[in-house]
Amino acid sequence: MKKELLKTGDGSTTLHLPQWNEQYHSKHGAIQEALHVFIKHGLQYVCNPNLNKPLSILEIGFGTGLNALLTYISSKEIDNLSIDYTGLEAYPVAMEEIDNLNFSEQLNMDNKVYTKLHSSAWEQREKISDTFYLTKKNIRFEDFQESEKFHLIYFDAFGPRVQPELWEKPIFQQMYLALKPNGVLVTYSAKGAVRRTMQEVGFTVERLPGPPGKREMLRAIKIG
Ligand SMILES: C[S@@+](CC[C@H](N)C(=O)[O-])C[C@H]1O[C@@H](n2cnc3c(N)ncnc32)[C@H](O)[C@@H]1O
Repeated sequence: MKKELLKTGDGSTTLHLPQWNEQYHSKHGAIQEALHVFIKHGLQYVCNPNLNKPLSILEIGFGTGLNALLTYISSKEIDNLSIDYTGLEAYPVAMEEIDNLNFSEQLNMDNKVYTKLHSSAWEQREKISDTFYLTKKNIRFEDFQESEKFHLIYFDAFGPRVQPELWEKPIFQQMYLALKPNGVLVTYSAKGAVRRTMQEVGFTVERLPGPPGKREMLRAIKIG
């Protein structure tokens, strides 16, 4: 599918899909949204002193790798935290498209880490640093099956308007199974139907204030 580069409200770029009129991130600010939804209400929420380390994170929709990059940066600011990060992606973004994104520049950092996240091999657990390991899986979400493996899920599929099948019960059932007891799932969507589907599969769901441009987001917990 054709992708175009788009500058978002906070100066960071994202990819736009004209055919679907859909973006990889919020038009109001790609970095801003990812920091709010996934880092503040996901990573920082689960990082408590009683956590069994390393922290295992599953990302649904690795895409441009922005969430992985922000998780890498944020994890360095939390004492003794090491991360085992798994990103699922059915349609990897081409390296030429990755090269056009300005995340490292916007974050005032060298592009080395971002390049390493993308050049690392698929289907293997790769060392990005002593405390950050990345496994990228070229797989459809629908085909992924793991049980009680993850502390945290970043659910970052395209929206229910364009991919409704990824926001239905079978996918959230898989996500519920993939989490450890007390595991947490965060997503930018706050649709009532999505919240009710999460509750139907067993999650306890909170509505939280959304990032700029969005009233709310959801955090779902597998109480156990
Ligand atoms: C909203 S974008 C991802 C944003 C990503 N987290 C980022 O920071 O760039 C959704 C991603 O899900 C991927 N995707 C769409 N349908 C999929 C499927 N059925 N299985 C796996 N990946 C899928 C898309 O290719 C896209 O990269």
